[in-house]
Amino acid sequence: MNYNEAKELLEKNNQSHLLEYFDELNDDQKEHLLEQISEIDFDLIKLIENADTPDERGVITPLDAEVSIKEIEENADKFRAKGVEAIKEGKVAALLLAGGMGTRLGSDKPKGMYNIGETKDVFIFEMLIRNLMDVVDEVGVWVPLYIMTSEKNDKDTREFFEEKNYFGYNKDYVKFFKQEMAPACDFDGKIYLERKDRISTSPNGNGGWFISFNKAGLLEEAKAKGIEYINLFAVDNVCQRMVDPLFVGAMLDGGYVSASKVVSKAAPEEKVGVLCLEDGKPSIVEYYELTEEMRYETLPDGSLAYKDGVILNYLFSIKALEENMHNNLSTHVVKKKIECLDENGNAKKPETENGYKFETLVLDMIHDMDNCLAYEVVREKEFAPIKNKTGVDSVDTAKELLKKNGVEL
Ligand code: UTP
Repeated sequence: MNYNEAKELLEKNNQSHLLEYFDELNDDQKEHLLEQISEIDFDLIKLIENADTPDERGVITPLDAEVSIKEIEENADKFRAKGVEAIKEGKVAALLLAGGMGTRLGSDKPKGMYNIGETKDVFIFEMLIRNLMDVVDEVGVWVPLYIMTSEKNDKDTREFFEEKNYFGYNKDYVKFFKQEMAPACDFDGKIYLERKDRISTSPNGNGGWFISFNKAGLLEEAKAKGIEYINLFAVDNVCQRMVDPLFVGAMLDGGYVSASKVVSKAAPEEKVGVLCLEDGKPSIVEYYELTEEMRYETLPDGSLAYKDGVILNYLFSIKALEENMHNNLSTHVVKKKIECLDENGNAKKPETENGYKFETLVLDMIHDMDNCLAYEVVREKEFAPIKNKTGVDSVDTAKELLKKNGVEL
């Protein structure tokens, strides 16, 4: 795209300010900016008109497929045997979603590089690898691990794993891939410049993983290796177990095409997405999408009807994902802090949310599945997300839980 074409395109979309500093740029920078402009999806920006309008939902009813902690204990031998068999046969892979920017934690480096150690180094990535290693030790085979990064943190992430020798994991079984980016804009829909020669972009949400995984050629490669199931997990939950034989076994035993680890809601008001049925298909709704009545509804045994809080640990059948890969996931417009230029053209890191990012979410993929098993885990053992430095879901709360579980920090 040349300058005149870019100018015309931007004028048509009310984004002419993106060329404000064009004359100050060298040839390479000019070329780079024009290329970025040619890639903008202006339809995304239109979505901000409905940013505050909640999504329309279908008919929500309680989920009909759950295994409780008690049922898991009762069936542990059977679930473990099935899970171990599938893992041993190389049918299960792990996929770490590490493309996020972790803005709430506020570190310049990838979130996984954050050191939560007190008397020694303990990095978030290291904790996750250790947890996966428990399965490797139990089953006796290396589990393929895919790591999704973004343009913003790919280099740092790869270098860190190299530098730390993959924390003892077999690097032949680790593959990185990058997710796509989306532009970010202010509250009026003006796309931000991050530098004079660069549009502010951010990773396009964790729901972007499947398209990027496929584009990177890894879907074909995984299938060729005989991988049939993939366990997605977030970077920030340092206690979670991934490719957990019992979890895998429970899904296979029930013949489900997807499964989600859940924690039982601590209270009806807890602000967590819950797994339920929407128009008869599995779905995850946010706490504010449940009516007051639903929030307090109970089942005959006295438990909450909508109690299965999701913790971003999902198991999918690759076949089921492929069957639905052409369904578009809805894009969420999310308020975030976005690095941009100030009025003098200097880079600025905002203290508060200053605009919108556009993200698709892995949780929306559940609705494309014919069924999904809610697999209950013990919150105090498996749920310690690190979103913030202090307070709720923070470095402090995660450390406390790790220590309670006997992890030395
Ligand atoms: P979060 O929703 O916590 O987002 O991601 P975040 O970007 O990491 O953090 P904040 O909101 O800016 O503080 C949940 C999981 O999804 C991954 C994250 O890395 C984390 O594991 N993620 C998120 C991606 O892989 N890509 C994205 O575009 C967004």
